[in-house]
Amino acid sequence: MPTPIKIANAADFVGQEVTLKGWVQKRIDKGKLQFISLRDGSGTMQCVVFKKNLPEEQFEAARYITLESAVAISGALRAEPRAPGGYELDVATFEVIGRADDPYPLAPKRDGGEHGTDFLLNNRHLWLRDPQQVAILRIRATLVKAIRDWLDDHDFTLVDTPIITPAAAEGTTTLFATKYFDEPAYLAQTGQLYNEADIFAFGRVYCFGPTFRAEKSDTRRHAMEFWMVEPEMAFTDLWENMEVIEQFVGYCVQTVLEKRADDLAVLGRDVSRLQNVLPPFPRIHYDHAVKLLHANGFPDFPWGEDFGAPHEDTISAQFDKPVFVHHYPREVKAFYMQPDPERPDTVLACDLIAPEGYGEIVGGSQRMHDYQMILDAIDAQKLPREAYEWYLDLRKYGTQPHSGFGMGLERVLMWLGGLHHIREALPFPRLYRRFYP
Ligand code: 4AD
Ligand code: MG
Repeated sequence: MPTPIKIANAADFVGQEVTLKGWVQKRIDKGKLQFISLRDGSGTMQCVVFKKNLPEEQFEAARYITLESAVAISGALRAEPRAPGGYELDVATFEVIGRADDPYPLAPKRDGGEHGTDFLLNNRHLWLRDPQQVAILRIRATLVKAIRDWLDDHDFTLVDTPIITPAAAEGTTTLFATKYFDEPAYLAQTGQLYNEADIFAFGRVYCFGPTFRAEKSDTRRHAMEFWMVEPEMAFTDLWENMEVIEQFVGYCVQTVLEKRADDLAVLGRDVSRLQNVLPPFPRIHYDHAVKLLHANGFPDFPWGEDFGAPHEDTISAQFDKPVFVHHYPREVKAFYMQPDPERPDTVLACDLIAPEGYGEIVGGSQRMHDYQMILDAIDAQKLPREAYEWYLDLRKYGTQPHSGFGMGLERVLMWLGGLHHIREALPFPRLYRRFYP
């Protein structure tokens, strides 16, 4: 009986009879010789089907097999330096488990052209099998593990936060409204407010889950549902927050470089621009960022406005590492951010902007810890006070300066993978006006 194996473990079975189960990714017809490239989820292997080596009807089955059919193939495994992956299977038995309809919608086009974006997105359930898409999602899984590992190893406790919430935290314009039985409710834009409660019990916490924003515009960087990791720390100021962010981001980048070199190569990513992503990262004041814009193509940029993608790209182009911009104008940031006592028109906030034009990957701040100040901020934004009673309580019982940040998983993945659009950074992206499949 041949041994069932995974393609990734081929090196351990050279010279043995093995069975592979997988899908036909490609077939080259040379008459008596068929080359089948088989994908099993762990890798792909070239399988050589030679007419004289197997029963007639099995050879015919192999010869007319359709793309993406599920098959079981047995034979002797050999090292073959010329084959992609370095191994080859000499096929002795060929069994069809699930024959695929022909043609496969995502088969390479005869004219060599590319499938259109809408077509690919409508067929996301099939597009996922594409080697580049597989590489992206494997990098994503490794990135998630790096994120968790670093936080777990640095005294952060994972405390999950709710998805159905009674109030806004990041502005009322991007809320996804729903109903909680008869009451209005919203999908979480952030877990931060709950993290702030949790630090009183744990000191350092993080939440990591799906986050929802009804961003009413179609951009490369915005998904309606994205994953955010949000660490929060008691007794921590803005400067300590930035130190944590740079250590954390540096670890995540270096871990992906080390563990997913093969997948980055599949994507054709130039990793030289990632290798130097180690602390310290440059830090610039918002005032200075505005000056940079004035000197680099935006002479009229007004102090007090938030940066859009072209501004972020111009700022990040001045640096070869991610750059912190801190002390944003209070007007453009969330209600809970602590104003700078010396410059109350600015807040103790920091955004981390990725190099190479990948935009904001982290948003963080020191939070208001004074009861009256945050009450005034809630009123000034006309937020319903009743919904925030519990949050106000935190400023009554054990308040202290505290800080935290949120890092968008897909934004980081776009940067690491060199992806043009966020749609490829999610298995089933929810985009502006698109949530099928
Ligand atoms: O800057 P944001 O809005 O910050 C917060 O939500 C804070 N409550 C985080 C905190 O301090 N705990 O979002 C944080 C990050 C952004 O820097 C970006 O990476 C990502 O989340 N992000 C998005 N990613 C994809 N699509 C969107 N629509 C995103 N909106 C934000
Ligand atoms: Mg932000």
